[in-house]
Amino acid sequence: MQLNTIIGDIAEQAVDAIIINLFENTNSPGGATAAIDQRMNGAISALLVGGDFKGKLRETSVLYPGETMPARRIIVVGLGPEEDFTIDRIRHATAAAAIRARELGARRIASILHGAGAGRIETYAAARAAAEGAGLGLYTFEKYKSEPGRQGVTSFTLVAWKEQNADALRAGAREGEIIANCTCHARDLVSEPPNICTPSFLAVHAEKLAYNHGMTARVLSDAKLRELKMGAFLSVGQGSAQQPQFIVLEHNAEMLKDSAPLVLIGKAITFDTGGYSIKSGEGMSDMKTDMAGGAAVLGALQAAALLRIPYPVVGLVPAAENMISGRANRPSDVVRASNGKTIEILNTDAEGRLILADALVYAGGYKPATVIDIATLTGAAVIALGEGGAAALFTDDEQLAERLSLASQSSGERIWRMPLFPEYAEWVRGSDVADLRNIPGKRYAGAGTSAAFLQEFTEGSQWAHLDIAPMASLPASKVVHPLGPAGATGFGVRLLAHMMLDGD
Ligand code: BES
Ligand code: MN
Ligand code: ZN
Repeated sequence: MQLNTIIGDIAEQAVDAIIINLFENTNSPGGATAAIDQRMNGAISALLVGGDFKGKLRETSVLYPGETMPARRIIVVGLGPEEDFTIDRIRHATAAAAIRARELGARRIASILHGAGAGRIETYAAARAAAEGAGLGLYTFEKYKSEPGRQGVTSFTLVAWKEQNADALRAGAREGEIIANCTCHARDLVSEPPNICTPSFLAVHAEKLAYNHGMTARVLSDAKLRELKMGAFLSVGQGSAQQPQFIVLEHNAEMLKDSAPLVLIGKAITFDTGGYSIKSGEGMSDMKTDMAGGAAVLGALQAAALLRIPYPVVGLVPAAENMISGRANRPSDVVRASNGKTIEILNTDAEGRLILADALVYAGGYKPATVIDIATLTGAAVIALGEGGAAALFTDDEQLAERLSLASQSSGERIWRMPLFPEYAEWVRGSDVADLRNIPGKRYAGAGTSAAFLQEFTEGSQWAHLDIAPMASLPASKVVHPLGPAGATGFGVRLLAHMMLDGD
């Protein structure tokens, strides 16, 4: 889909659908909507008077302008009450209207910039959000469908009317388009079936990504991983016919000798059966999603390159498959991580923390400014926050918590901070035979204890852990209406991209 921006009159766009808006509880339209209402002899006012359209967020109504305008149809989208308006509502309104237009078969769409008028949002931020909303909302994954589904949208044009806003409009739209594309890149990887998206598939994919975006890629081989003594990571993959792959991506690699990088670590279990602590059929059903953290890191690194983030950013993606065989981990096995700590594996389904442990130690080798890991780590986070509720944030660093909270606000990706009580560390230290146990004795505070386990491997750098299990893949219409179809959300790419853009 081509994303365009122009300064002009929305009413003059000769496209398949033009998109205009209305706040909730307004009796009379304003701005471009008023102008169009006038040209159509009050057709929009009539919608309101008749009570056919309330202006609720994401509500849409379709009108046919006939001879009064060159466009084939007009889609009116609700923005919700004016006093509740936010940048995130621009994304949701743009996505809803674009999806409605596509359902009607529209291929060329023009939209006004929601929020730039009465919503009082800066053109730059409004354009960025609109571009994100269009790109995310119109996402599909139809690679394996023999019959192509609905026809795709070919062009989406953002129309602003003030001459002086042209640069802000263009720059904001460009940034939003990049962020949406990188999110859809992560969604594509998560949507891939697990027989295709194996650890080596991800490794090859990362190498191509690096080549296309001027980054450095390294994939650590089995021999190298043994040399680094990554016993925790290697143990998880040893039950699978697929070799584990440890992917290292560097943006601005040449700056690494002078400046401390931001290191992003993403869990990439390409399928999680649970191992011998096997999951139920239902529990296993969506476990191709267990590489969503890794996908988010690949998407975020692509965004770092395209957005020209001015400092070094490193992406670490430990990739493995958690399967069963004569070589797989047994409950009670003891492994040694690359920092020398021994771990008693009491549950082979708590595998994410094992692969992240060695990745966190590897991150320490960069003397990083900041380390953020992102992982579909626990069902307990889903229980605590709900499907589509928020990702759980764990950190002891107030400054990093604040930075992530700002990024959450500007990206619209919700995170919720949870505690790292010192007792949690005690619970994962209580092994009879090793330094640590991969699950505590009891099932309580499951998200917190997994975070406490990870903290054992952070060695003092500024660190945050994001448990994205509640957010990585959503059934249709959950707590937060996803921007796009059910399934992979690409959660984390927008959060991390906005964080990198908001400064260091
Ligand atoms: N990948 C799962 C966590 C998960 C569960 C993600 C549901 C998304 C939806 C993880 O590897 C896992 O199995 N965690 C266990 C940990 C337990 C054994 C301590 C869990 O949450 O049940
Ligand atoms: Mn598991
Ligand atoms: Zn898992």
